[in-house]
Amino acid sequence: MCGICGATGLRHATPIVFEGLRRLEYRGYDSAGIATLADGKIERRRAAGKLDNLAALLEREPLSGTTGIGHTRWATHGAPTTGNAHPHGTARVAIVHNGIIENFETLRRELETAGQVFETETDSETIALLVDYHLQRGLSPKEAALATLQRLEGAYAVAMVFAGHEGLIIGACHNAPLAVGYGEHEMFLGSDSLALAPLTRRITYMENGDCAILTPMGAEFIRFDGTPVQRAQQVTTLTAGAIGKDGYRHYMEKELHEHPLVIGQTLQRMVDPATRKVVLPELPFNLADAPRAVMTACGSAFYAGMVGRYWLEEIARLPVDIDVASELRYRNPPLDRHSLGLLISQSGETADTLAALRALRQSDVHILSVLNVEHSSMARESDAVLGTVAGPEISVASTKAFTAQLTVLACLSIAIARARGHLDPLREEELVSALLDMPTRAADALAQNEAVRAMARVVAEARDVLYLGRGSLFPVAMEGALKLKEISYIHAEAYAAGEMKHGPISLIDSSVPIVASAPYTPLFDKTLSNLQEAKARGGRLLVFTDTKGAERVSAIAEQVVVLPHVHDFVTPILQVIPVQMLAYEVAVLKGTDVDQPRNLAKSVTVE
Ligand code: F6R
Repeated sequence: MCGICGATGLRHATPIVFEGLRRLEYRGYDSAGIATLADGKIERRRAAGKLDNLAALLEREPLSGTTGIGHTRWATHGAPTTGNAHPHGTARVAIVHNGIIENFETLRRELETAGQVFETETDSETIALLVDYHLQRGLSPKEAALATLQRLEGAYAVAMVFAGHEGLIIGACHNAPLAVGYGEHEMFLGSDSLALAPLTRRITYMENGDCAILTPMGAEFIRFDGTPVQRAQQVTTLTAGAIGKDGYRHYMEKELHEHPLVIGQTLQRMVDPATRKVVLPELPFNLADAPRAVMTACGSAFYAGMVGRYWLEEIARLPVDIDVASELRYRNPPLDRHSLGLLISQSGETADTLAALRALRQSDVHILSVLNVEHSSMARESDAVLGTVAGPEISVASTKAFTAQLTVLACLSIAIARARGHLDPLREEELVSALLDMPTRAADALAQNEAVRAMARVVAEARDVLYLGRGSLFPVAMEGALKLKEISYIHAEAYAAGEMKHGPISLIDSSVPIVASAPYTPLFDKTLSNLQEAKARGGRLLVFTDTKGAERVSAIAEQVVVLPHVHDFVTPILQVIPVQMLAYEVAVLKGTDVDQPRNLAKSVTVE
């Protein structure tokens, strides 16, 4: 969702802020803009569309000044036009905002009554005009900012600059992330550490209700009521190198190729190499006490959770309730005491998942989150966190975070199974061995790119595609359909293979390719029967299988991708890789904007 960035120091602010926006563009690319202070006056440049449009504008109309703020937008209130692009402001103040101001209509009415004139349809402009109103009343920038922040409801991270106050940036956040970066006689502000990575490694993650007063000499932190607070600096390990494309065509391609690495890194954190046992960090609750788990997440992370449900039920014999976070947050299900609330999120900022976390908090539930971003809002609000070690995921479509989430959920299932007395050491050794084999097998899967490309040529011609899978491969089919939809804009639907005959089979004809995951698992024969049913109705079968299933699948399928045969337990981790590769190759063939598909943004911080 929108990204914000700021810089104050001795250097020209515009190139620093612009490059920060480049690293934040994955958060939204409907419009972008920068405001600087030039000779004490606020200057703004804004452009609809991608950052390249802003770059062209800055080329024609450069912005000088050593204090600046910038924004890249994912439109919520107001169309993605130049007029609605941030920064918003007046001659006295300019602001950039990420989030939603829920009481903006009330504030807008009050401000209009007081004579303030709005130029945009956005909720964000309310912030600018409220600050401006207080400045006109004679308040200092800090006082005006605090008076404004005390009135705002909703989720927001905001940065402000003030005419006549060279060097000053005020940042604030409430339920939206904001980080302060420390340089030598310069200071930075960014929506995340990625924005700041090449500028500094010294960072403070602001907390809800924090306001930061930045000047080139440092940062002062206060609460919205003006009380001073101390906030610790942390040294990030993130380097500029981690956020390059490394010669790949797209971030998505690079991130697909990182599957073996991230599975390996995540396993290193969760498996003791000496004992070959899963070792979890110390938790503030006892896993064995949980009578059931309630899992929730959004999008791909939800499908990872669905795979996790199969494991927790099958291996740990733990009853699991799972729902998408946007539903769970309003469902108010009855929950047993000490149930395990299991949340999954790459960003740790997804608004629906965060709200579901807070809803679960109302019950006596232990919150354990599987997160990729260490210093995220969900990390702060969970009782414990299991980290996926996927590194920054920049492509809007999630790939490597998914296999890292599966790896954590697989290890967690083993740990819970052991804690509940459902796993003997031999079985644990068998499951852990299968997991430790995964980085190598994932590399084998990536080597199937030619076969995947051949499949992609068929899919790219289709208008509708049906994805099928059974058991823990049903969520893999769902992940495949989601990925295809979001980056190639081809309509796709996923069904549990056995469910097809209850309706969707009527869709099948030779124009609807059927993409199926059918490796040699105990459900292989059943899946094959379903594929036969589809073939009998003219369906064109494109099937991911393994070395043990290859012969029988090849007899009926038009195209086959053959992966190594692995233990049933880890099959979904392996099978999802070519399924994601297929979506990528189709999108490349269709020439879509793979890393930044239309209408989407990474880390959806609005409801
Ligand atoms: C799909 C995708 C989204 C995210 C979803 C949750 O490719 O990326 O469906 O998985 O928005 O995001 P996180 O994991 O950040 O909570």
